[in-house]
Amino acid sequence: MSTTQSRARAVEAMFSSIARWYDFLNHVLSLGLDITWRKKAAARLGPALRGGKILDLACGTGDLSIAIARAGQTAVITGGDFSDAMLAIARAKVARHKLDQRITMEKADALNLPYPDGAFDGVTCAFGVRNFADLDLGLAQMARVTKPGGRLVILEFTTPSNRLAAALYRFYFTRILPLLGGLVSGNRGAYQYLPDTVYAFPSPPELARRVERAGFDDVEFTPLTFGICGIHSAVKK
Ligand SMILES: C[S@@+](CC[C@H](N)C(=O)[O-])C[C@H]1O[C@@H](n2cnc3c(N)ncnc32)[C@H](O)[C@@H]1O
Repeated sequence: MSTTQSRARAVEAMFSSIARWYDFLNHVLSLGLDITWRKKAAARLGPALRGGKILDLACGTGDLSIAIARAGQTAVITGGDFSDAMLAIARAKVARHKLDQRITMEKADALNLPYPDGAFDGVTCAFGVRNFADLDLGLAQMARVTKPGGRLVILEFTTPSNRLAAALYRFYFTRILPLLGGLVSGNRGAYQYLPDTVYAFPSPPELARRVERAGFDDVEFTPLTFGICGIHSAVKK
């Protein structure tokens, strides 16, 4: 097994192990901000929301897929993730919200997407690209399945540029979050993995360059909440 494959397996096992606590911890640890962030990300799909086919990649428990369905009443959404445990929660949630006519949840590996070229008018990924075992391969796959002129929206954690905000963020992210996340989920490693990967992840300008290199134009970055996370949007060439 290659290093990329074994890293992907470890990521899949980690998310499966915390799946049942994932939503609760997301909302508590972000003080509910994650809900607003996803709404803003959904809105960035723009024209693709009007009757478009959207792929919500690394959909996890489906919150962004649901936000997209609400933002675009005629959009049809496929949620793709490689964790069966996350997908099971997503499917139950979509059925509870009576959105199963518009949202389909499917097993899909972001590094080898089971969709033809240009299958979607828009592709989204919330807090997912940071976990890809090979970021450039994941971006290339997202470009491949997006139609020319279609939209890409990536929501991801970043590190604030303001020094005070950066210091508070670091304290919360590296001390409080792993402690609380570990206590509730029983998997401290998973909540240590979060700050570790955020600090190791490319900066917004670097990610923008890699998104462009993958085949997108008009890459725009919008910071949210003092720059603790942000949205990259782009248009497929
Ligand atoms: C932090 S969660 C984000 C879930 C959701 N998008 C959200 O907004 O809460 C990351 C998700 O990425 C998925 N993931 C990571 N690498 C993946 C890959 N190569 N293919 C498919 N899913 C992947 C994990 O299984 C997990 O559900």
